[in-house]
Amino acid sequence: MFILISLTTLVYCKSTKLNSVEYSPSIKQLEIANIKWANTLPLELKQGQNIFSTKCIECHQSKTIVNYNEKKWILIIDEMSEKSKLSVEEKLKLTKYILSYRQEKTIVNSN
Ligand code: HEC
Repeated sequence: MFILISLTTLVYCKSTKLNSVEYSPSIKQLEIANIKWANTLPLELKQGQNIFSTKCIECHQSKTIVNYNEKKWILIIDEMSEKSKLSVEEKLKLTKYILSYRQEKTIVNSN
């Protein structure tokens, strides 16, 4: 029984380690996201970040989020989601992540 528990724990730890993404949205970012999209969960932002750091680097290096304003990002996300063949859900999560991240990092809102 003890061995079974240890094994389960080991497997569990390994799998969470493998799946764990270092990024976790800050409270502030989550607040910002929830102003635009009510009931946004931390997991959605995490998944958005995951899309950004995997699917969005297939053709070019990772782009710097704060280099583009919100309007520009909406246009870019439209175009790049097609290139990445994102589903509607993935595109929404990516949008939530990028725009809330950008807003949190941008002290003076330059829109
Ligand atoms: C199928 C290839 C491909 C994929 C996948 C892709 N891109 Fe791009 N992206 C390009 C090309 C080509 C350019 C234009 C050249 C450049 O800026 O590197 C570009 C440019 C950009 C730019 C600069 C736009 C500008 O006006 O300066 C951003 C930002 C960007 N991509 C974000 C993303 C994001 C976010 C994703 C994930 C959803 C993504 N890309 C996925 C091919 C791709």
